[in-house]
Amino acid sequence: MQKFPENFIFGAATAAYQAEGATKIGNKGKTYWDDYLAEQNVFDPSTASDFYHKYREDLEVCQAFGINGIRISIAWTRIFPNGTGEVNQSGVDYYHELIDTCIKNKVEPFVTLHHFDTPDPLFKLGDWLSQEMVTAFVDFSSFCFKEYGDKVNYWITINEPWSVVAGQYIIGHFPPNKQYDIPKAIQAMHNMMVAHARVVKVYVAGNYHGEIGIVHILESKYPISDKPEDDEAAMQEHVLANQFMLDVTFNGCYSEESLAVVKNILKQNQGELIIREEELEILSDAAQKIDFLGINYYASHFLKAYEGESLIHHNGTGEKGSSIFALKGIGERVSNPKIPTTDWDWPIYPQGLLDMLLYIKEKYPHYKKIYVTENGMGDKDLLTNETVNDDARIEYVRLHLSAILKAVEKGVNVQGYFIWSLMDVFSWTNGYNKRYGLLYVDFDTQKRYAKKSAYWYKKLAETKELL
Ligand code: NOJ
Repeated sequence: MQKFPENFIFGAATAAYQAEGATKIGNKGKTYWDDYLAEQNVFDPSTASDFYHKYREDLEVCQAFGINGIRISIAWTRIFPNGTGEVNQSGVDYYHELIDTCIKNKVEPFVTLHHFDTPDPLFKLGDWLSQEMVTAFVDFSSFCFKEYGDKVNYWITINEPWSVVAGQYIIGHFPPNKQYDIPKAIQAMHNMMVAHARVVKVYVAGNYHGEIGIVHILESKYPISDKPEDDEAAMQEHVLANQFMLDVTFNGCYSEESLAVVKNILKQNQGELIIREEELEILSDAAQKIDFLGINYYASHFLKAYEGESLIHHNGTGEKGSSIFALKGIGERVSNPKIPTTDWDWPIYPQGLLDMLLYIKEKYPHYKKIYVTENGMGDKDLLTNETVNDDARIEYVRLHLSAILKAVEKGVNVQGYFIWSLMDVFSWTNGYNKRYGLLYVDFDTQKRYAKKSAYWYKKLAETKELL
């Protein structure tokens, strides 16, 4: 039996676009997903889990299940329907009520300012590739701090920069659906880190009482063999997807080591990275000021060397071997027969989380604290007798929490865990059939049913003991 510290947060995560629904209600403006999803006509995000209307009930359930933290995000286009300009008071009021309801139910809100939902007009100006976007994000964040800063204790600037840029410019499953444009991905990632840093600066200058951090998706990368070229492939993807941003997050600049790798990748892809002189101080300042790092961890990857042209195939079904991810000048992700996978072919590898936590402690010893802000298992759950027997999810979560406890024993300062997700939500590329929730949602009636994992999590939150 292993025990978590008394003040550990046992949380659950949501994101506005994936949980709220109500995309056309309350004068909400469009994000870049609205028209794209309407054109595709495969998944309809307009109701999602109807958290917009059901948050009171959901937060009562949190309290009843011992969940003492929740990740929510503020939908930028509820506050500024066009991204900038006129304020929509009903959106402002909505988040006051939502945050107040969290507090009333003793569920600590961790509030994210950008969770994949750029306003459509700013997307059309170039999204994170444009300076207008960066400035507009700083203004929106500043507005939120003034409005909610006296009651929110934990702010997250941006969720998963790497997933955003990889989805938009490398994999192509996020609008604008470009593939293999690694230079654009790197530039957008840098601009997101500058936006994050500028927001941290505003927050610190405002003397608010809470804490501020950023959330990165961090997946460990391992060579599939002991061949040096496979080792090189794993190292390159690790630097590009993890270390490059961790450098800026904690050191405020890119290390020589990371820059060398990224410049080499850029060279092979005929691109360059523009870093403006005036950004350097802002980045360095923010690195000293941030209070925590949020880690989203689902899987790790095994790599082998790859010489060909970039090739990505992703049919979303998760059939074994159905996806290809091979990047020119970096490497190819391959399956490791020794590692089990989820229904979506994601390797289940808790050791990757432990390794990542230990790596952060060693490489960035001045980090302050870490929350695991997302972890969980997507499955094709079946509702039977008003519940779901999701033993596989319980085991997945148990193994990852055990990895966290091992890291804590080795001195890593992890202070909380947020299961993705509180309830089944809309998934960006899989719609509604990939379920992660502690609560099963019947998307026709919006009725919630606690899964077996919810009861398991409740016991854990109450006893703090991982059996
Ligand atoms: C991370 C993202 O933050 C979230 O939006 C997404 O649905 C989950 N990963 C699951 O893929």
